[in-house]
Amino acid sequence: MFPTLVWKIQLKAEVHEAIDAKIFAALAAMRRNAPGLAPGQGWQSNQTLHELEEFRDLISCINNAAKSVLKFLRVGYDAFEITGCWANVLAKGAAHKPHSHPNNFLSGVYYLRTHPGTDTINFHDPRNQTGIIRPPVVELTAENTDQVVVTVKNGTLLIFPSYLQHSVDANTSGEERISISFNIMFSSFTEKLSKPLW
Ligand SMILES: [Fe+2]
Repeated sequence: MFPTLVWKIQLKAEVHEAIDAKIFAALAAMRRNAPGLAPGQGWQSNQTLHELEEFRDLISCINNAAKSVLKFLRVGYDAFEITGCWANVLAKGAAHKPHSHPNNFLSGVYYLRTHPGTDTINFHDPRNQTGIIRPPVVELTAENTDQVVVTVKNGTLLIFPSYLQHSVDANTSGEERISISFNIMFSSFTEKLSKPLW
């Protein structure tokens, strides 16, 4: 009943290695003058990476995946677009607090560099009411948990509803965790899909 779906796509090695090489070069250029990250620190790029040539192949994968998701959900729409796309780097000890991405329909993450100790993302139960009474459980199951931990690796692409709260635990590896986040919204949402219901 009322499922909350997260789509996990693993790009083939030959596909993601080519994508990653171009993106790494672009990110290195962006960070050339930025100071190195101290433990606990993170770095974010600007939110227009989807406009860069170096990101074209990744954006193509994201668009194809989003089309499949919308088809699966039987959503009727004219067009959708990526409204933002940015890089996240988390040094050792850095984390992301629970958050969602308002005014978008789908959000997602592509993983460039994960390491043991920083290869998961947490999704939180969107049914806020379930937190009002939460008795202890004798066994944690898919039916009684309030958080699902998804394991990712290099070349993993996740897509999920933008309303779904998610967080990242502190990076316990000695390496940087590098991911690319993005948001997707219907191009003409206000004109075509969000008319008043009365
Ligand atoms: Fe996010």
